[in-house]
Amino acid sequence: MRSAASAGRRKLASNARGKPLQGSPAGERTPRAGAAGETVIRPARRADLDQVIEIDATVTGLEKRRYWLDVFRRYGGGTDGGRCFLVAVRDRRVLGFVIGEIRDWEFGSPPCGWVFAIDVQPRARLQGIGTMLLEAISDAFRSQGVGTLRTMLARDNTLIMSFFRSQGMMAGPLLMLEMDLHEDRAR
Ligand SMILES: CC(C)(COP(=O)(O)OP(=O)(O)OC[C@H]1O[C@@H](n2cnc3c(N)ncnc32)[C@H](O)[C@@H]1OP(=O)(O)O)[C@@H](O)C(=O)NCCC(=O)NCCS
Repeated sequence: MRSAASAGRRKLASNARGKPLQGSPAGERTPRAGAAGETVIRPARRADLDQVIEIDATVTGLEKRRYWLDVFRRYGGGTDGGRCFLVAVRDRRVLGFVIGEIRDWEFGSPPCGWVFAIDVQPRARLQGIGTMLLEAISDAFRSQGVGTLRTMLARDNTLIMSFFRSQGMMAGPLLMLEMDLHEDRAR
């Protein structure tokens, strides 16, 4: 019998095979610019940052320029070393982004790819861009020998939950715990 987890992984893999992406996650086959109206997935460039910051500010209500400069410093410039910061671009407009990283033996797990953030500009949603971004980062991780994709999300974020479920992601084997570190916390 096919396990739910392996069915999910298969769906992700077949998504990646089924719909060719216009940009390669490694950036080597990425055209410099897509044809008019074509959506291209490619590694983020410094010149994309203003638009990335704008999308994030639209979605979260906070403009975090210093944070994004730091993210770009750490994750920008390609997918070598397992770090990925990819953007979806159409007609020179950044429509969305995804950020993630391969983490080795974290929490005792074999190396796996983590998605930290994925956002699509509200006006560009439900056109398959989120799917293209997730497929591209999955391809980048897969090409570096990783066979599992993980992420974390807020329990009440039903939109992102619906999206990840549609991509074949399911509850994983890890459980997140947290505690309050304020000194006046009641014990
Ligand atoms: C989640 C998100 C990335 C999806 O991007 P998108 O480009 O609209 O996604 P796609 O068009 O590829 O949709 C793929 C599937 O996701 C699901 N989905 C997407 N939006 C949905 C919605 N509003 N309601 C229900 N399901 C939805 C659907 O199953 C959809 O497939 P379908 O169109 O065949 O029904 C985008 O809505 C977004 O940026 N949301 C805010 C993200 C966020 O909260 N980020 C912070 C945490 S990292």
